[in-house]
Amino acid sequence: MSRTTQTGVAAKRRNKPIPPDPATLPALPTREALSIRPVRLDDLNAVIEMDALVTGIKKRDYWNSLYGRYADAVATGQHFLVATSGSEVIGFVIGEVRDWEFGSPPCGWVFAIDVRPDARLMGAATQLLQAISACFKRAGVSKVRTLLSRENTLILSFFRSQGMMIGPFIPLEMDLG
Ligand SMILES: CC(C)(COP(=O)(O)OP(=O)(O)OC[C@H]1O[C@@H](n2cnc3c(N)ncnc32)[C@H](O)[C@@H]1OP(=O)(O)O)[C@@H](O)C(=O)NCCC(=O)NCCS
Repeated sequence: MSRTTQTGVAAKRRNKPIPPDPATLPALPTREALSIRPVRLDDLNAVIEMDALVTGIKKRDYWNSLYGRYADAVATGQHFLVATSGSEVIGFVIGEVRDWEFGSPPCGWVFAIDVRPDARLMGAATQLLQAISACFKRAGVSKVRTLLSRENTLILSFFRSQGMMIGPFIPLEMDLG
């Protein structure tokens, strides 16, 4: 073996990544450890990161403003809940009761739901939707609605699995030039 090759092999060995000690790794989310609670200020970073994974944009100002409006606003029918596994925030849902908008009797609207990719398919979104629906029911409404992009088949599959069907409203839009 030539000197250059020997040096190359040694360098490769030196640069080989050292596997992390399993004891120092954060615990993986588990179905058993899931729980749902209202959002807290120190959850916002995790929420912002999760949203950025889906949308590709970090919107810190938007989330701070949303937190200001929705945290502790249960009395006005607004809800911002998070799913946790141990001490980790792994999902969130936001929604509110809206009265007589679009001529509709009061109903609950879910306008954001998201679960961290490594915690999906464990029932977190199901629990989040059940929890916010229970909040809506306590506020006296018997219907929940949402709006989603036609291309987002993942979120469509999720809402369909929960029993949601096409409603009586259609979205309309136009460019304002
Ligand atoms: C959609 C989403 C919220 C589901 O979260 P989740 O915690 O994985 O959902 P659950 O484990 O509660 O799944 C409930 C059901 O939804 C359906 N579902 C969830 N993920 C699915 C997938 N990848 N493919 C097909 N169906 C799926 C299934 O019917 C599932 O029931 P099952 O596990 O018994 O088959 C999650 O995938 C996500 O955050 N996606 C991106 C969200 C997004 O685009 N948000 C922007 C719009 S607000």
